[in-house]
Amino acid sequence: MSVRLETEHLILRPFEAEDAEAVQRYVSLWEIARMTSRIPHPYPDDAAAEWITSHESQRASGREHTFCVVLKSAPEAPIGACGLRFLEKGNWEIGYWLAPEHWGRGLATEAAKALVVYGFEKLEAEALNSGHFVDNPASGRVLEKAGFAANGIARQWSEARQDFTDSNRFLLTRETWEKARSLNEETGA
Ligand SMILES: CC(C)(COP(=O)(O)OP(=O)(O)OC[C@H]1O[C@@H](n2cnc3c(N)ncnc32)[C@H](O)[C@@H]1OP(=O)(O)O)[C@@H](O)C(=O)NCCC(=O)NCCS
Repeated sequence: MSVRLETEHLILRPFEAEDAEAVQRYVSLWEIARMTSRIPHPYPDDAAAEWITSHESQRASGREHTFCVVLKSAPEAPIGACGLRFLEKGNWEIGYWLAPEHWGRGLATEAAKALVVYGFEKLEAEALNSGHFVDNPASGRVLEKAGFAANGIARQWSEARQDFTDSNRFLLTRETWEKARSLNEETGA
């Protein structure tokens, strides 16, 4: 089943083969790869196309939901990726990256909030997890704005850095999310 989500400025849709060129270009950037756990640097030729091909089996397994981020105003051009990955029963991890020319406009926060709703409403998550390397405070802000709370420190591997780095872990439980949602409904926020 292919899912499409909408936010104020974004469409989150499945990746298609034609998106490979943009993905290859963006994830080859050090400023993106170094902030992620799994993207190698240098990024191998054709790896984006292989990654997109792998989404079919991801979808079939139901354990990973990856979305291509496009602007509603320019829907033909991918500007990022985001998704949810199954960790263990009821627990999913969210992740995202955006092209640097689109940073600082609240777009990652829009995407993260859409993933949160999808995780709780469609994947029946009990808790959503995420984290960011300590030298990436912008991602911490994205998580806070999406409702997550700090949940300790981990020591995580970065493929790009080829090293372990301290990572601030974040958690959003269904209970916290539901309370915040009913409060927002009461106050009209
Ligand atoms: C992290 C990333 C997704 C943020 O995307 P974005 O669209 O710029 O995020 P938003 O605009 O929604 O929010 C960014 C917030 O971080 C804040 N911020 C930016 N740089 C910051 C810094 N150096 N220190 C503290 N806060 C910072 C912004 O002010 C904003 O917060 P505000 O709305 O309270 O002002 C983007 O920089 C990115 O793709 N980075 C590379 C890949 C990556 O880090 N992925 C996440 C891995 S955990």
